[in-house]
Amino acid sequence: MTVDDRFTADAGALRADPALGTFSEVVTGPVSDWATDFSHTGEEWAQGAIGIWDDLRQRCPIAHTERFGGAWLPTRYEDVAAVAHDTEHFSSRGIIAGNFRPPRSLAPVGGTPPISSDPPFHHDARKLLLPAFTRTAVSRYEESTRAFCHALVDGFAGRDVVDAAADYAQHVPVRVMADMLGFPPEDGHRFRHFVENALEGIDLPPEERMARSSHLFEYLLVQIRDHLEHPRDDLTGHLLEAELYGRRLEPAHVAGTMALLLIAGIDTTWSAIGASLWHLAGHPEDRRRLVAEPGLRTTAVEEFLRAYAPVTMARLVKEDVTWRGVDMRAEDWVLLSFPAANRDPAQFERADEVLVDRQVNRHAAFGLGIHRCVGSHLARMELRVALDVWLDRVPEFTLADPGAVRWSTGQIRGPRALPVRIG
Ligand code: HEM
Repeated sequence: MTVDDRFTADAGALRADPALGTFSEVVTGPVSDWATDFSHTGEEWAQGAIGIWDDLRQRCPIAHTERFGGAWLPTRYEDVAAVAHDTEHFSSRGIIAGNFRPPRSLAPVGGTPPISSDPPFHHDARKLLLPAFTRTAVSRYEESTRAFCHALVDGFAGRDVVDAAADYAQHVPVRVMADMLGFPPEDGHRFRHFVENALEGIDLPPEERMARSSHLFEYLLVQIRDHLEHPRDDLTGHLLEAELYGRRLEPAHVAGTMALLLIAGIDTTWSAIGASLWHLAGHPEDRRRLVAEPGLRTTAVEEFLRAYAPVTMARLVKEDVTWRGVDMRAEDWVLLSFPAANRDPAQFERADEVLVDRQVNRHAAFGLGIHRCVGSHLARMELRVALDVWLDRVPEFTLADPGAVRWSTGQIRGPRALPVRIG
């Protein structure tokens, strides 16, 4: 089979057949008790997740819900780490908890390798990505990212109030991922839409979820065909040329990994930049310190990652198991709340405080175990550059209207509306 033959199929053939997966009944409505009926889809979670984890950690470290067909939520660092390291009982075949469970037949590859893959395949799929994400490899994008951040701030000229999430933080990873994957930069708004579809709307009816995912794969197929016609040296080109076990990658693997990079690279970093700016807008003493002492910004970035870790990933329980005193059923979800783990006082001193000069900070924002984030150097570069440019150019800013700040629901947590008064 030549490279071109691999991509003659229509987009439908590139994604998992929904008929093979299972949909559970949709359960909506307000939460009655966070320990027995939690849901990460509502406003109460969006606004108050940190308080909810702290409460659960004290009275019931592993919460449960019958929603999403059954799901568990460990809140202690120790439990989150144990699940993340235990690939014998927990599968990454499904990583976005909702009403749809991908078919068992997809394991060990999953729909979006390597994040959806289990051992032993996971190791080989992950290895393909590593060279593109080393510290040196991502430093190639630093200068253009800095110039782009300056251009965004230039665009604020004459305004008193800007939305630090929608007008600034959001655009940074969108542009970087477009550059890395070799997609047209003007398509940025479309990526945002795809990412939202994948991560939110997790309780929508099956047909709608499937229709939404088709749009993403149709778009990826257009980009793949464009790369086949005009080969170039970017991540898409790299995936098209890559080989596993002596053969070029399956089309579903190429498209699935592209979808993963788009999704993993955008909402996460957007959320981390936004949460850092939110903190600084509300804590003038930290803001002034970071403006005056740029050398502190590196430890501050790590502390923002710890305190406002944006990413929770899920696992599927492989077989019925009694795990640390709770009876988990096969196909239950387990939410791996790295954000809750990062706030555990048993693991971090003064866990509930944000200390921009915290020296020892072995946080779990980038995950734990074999799936630890491949993009951590890239994310750190984007965060540092975005904060550097903002603090140098906009040293004075405050929340314009605290009531108008809106945080996302679902597994990726960050501010989505963040009006700040500048100057
Ligand atoms: C602040 C930003 C980011 C955070 C907090 C973050 C967090 C995470 C976490 C917690 C995981 C582990 C998932 C699991 O255990 O199932 C992960 C995996 C991953 N991340 Fe990130 N991420 C960020 C940015 C990025 C970026 C910019 C990229 C690259 C485009 C990226 C690519 C990946 C990939 C490919 C994986 C899967 C690794 C594997 O399965 O072996 N991430 N990330």
